[in-house]
Amino acid sequence: VARAKHGAARSPEPLVPLTGAELRGLQRRLLAWFRRNQRSLPWRGTRDHYRIWISEVMLQQTRVAAALRYYKKFLARFPNVGALARARTESVLEAWAGLGYYSRARNLHRAAREILRRHGGRFPRKPAVARELPGVGRYTAAAVLSIAYGEPLAVLDGNVARVLARLGAVRGRLREPSQWNALEDTAQTILFTSAPGTWNQAMMELGATVCTPRAPSCGRCPVAHFCQALALDCVEQIPEKPKRRAPVRVQLAAAVLLDSKGRTLLVQPKDNPRGVLFSRMWQFPAVEVAEDAETELRRHLHETYGLATAGLIALRPARHAVTFRDITLLPYLLPVVELPRGLRQAVKGKQSDGVGTGAVASVPLAEVERWPTSSATRKIARAAGAGGQPALPFPV
Ligand code: ADE
Repeated sequence: VARAKHGAARSPEPLVPLTGAELRGLQRRLLAWFRRNQRSLPWRGTRDHYRIWISEVMLQQTRVAAALRYYKKFLARFPNVGALARARTESVLEAWAGLGYYSRARNLHRAAREILRRHGGRFPRKPAVARELPGVGRYTAAAVLSIAYGEPLAVLDGNVARVLARLGAVRGRLREPSQWNALEDTAQTILFTSAPGTWNQAMMELGATVCTPRAPSCGRCPVAHFCQALALDCVEQIPEKPKRRAPVRVQLAAAVLLDSKGRTLLVQPKDNPRGVLFSRMWQFPAVEVAEDAETELRRHLHETYGLATAGLIALRPARHAVTFRDITLLPYLLPVVELPRGLRQAVKGKQSDGVGTGAVASVPLAEVERWPTSSATRKIARAAGAGGQPALPFPV
């Protein structure tokens, strides 16, 4: 049925060739294994569309252990679609602070408003309608609709793709579009349609806990009997590793201003000029630097905030690795008599190397971690002594 719906040319050979009886055997074994071995996770055992949606968005690009720490707090703060829709964006970003990929939080918030306004407060049940929501792609739609509503839609994420590729001893790059399409068809073909949500979670669970990228536990695998890669002794060669992009090295010099009352300056860029890496979260004044970090930071602070920088003190550098960026954070401390109240007129509206336009706030350094900031900003705050011993004796 799924094939017919997609219409045009799809690979004629099934990637995981199974007879009807074999498929039923595979389904039965995997589901029995899942019933006994699934991790107990707070989003399991609910069919609430809102809770499942939040969990699936958190689990994209975030490990279960990290998502666990945020999930309950997020739901306590925004217990239903209405609460999320009515919240201020700031407040949603604050609850997300530290999870990364902040566009997810913005999209959640926008989508909650649409769900309330256009869909009567319920996550839409039709895949095409669900996918019109901000941040809801094929994966999220399939996950939420299958788990919450029992819609017969197979999910394909990295875990499921690896399981399928090993079952069928599929060579080549899985993320290559025609291959990924073929895997989507395969996932749909083997879907256990009587309990699609449970099936999808069982496939993901197998990939996450048994059929792992490295050192898979084939001895514990409930479907090892059907695995072509195991039969051909090439489990660890599948999936083929994508060629790693060399991480782009970036140096970011950031200034922790500090007045005599222990307050510092946070800025929130409105646009996203070059050099500002942390999206539109609150952050310290910062600039991407090439060679002479200190000189470049001084120039930035002077041009953008009109600051005199004679007292600038270098703090301990920190590393921050995100996707393919390897960022060296170079924090500096700058004691000031008074924090700037805004950006200099001359640069307002103009994009400089750092923050061009946007808001500024004066915040006690000790409270920076309570603002919607990224974890890089928290690392910088800690280098300046927030939440622990001050880096230097004060007052200035
Ligand atoms: N990864 C993402 N969503 C998941 C789920 N519902 N169960 C297991 N692993 C997942």
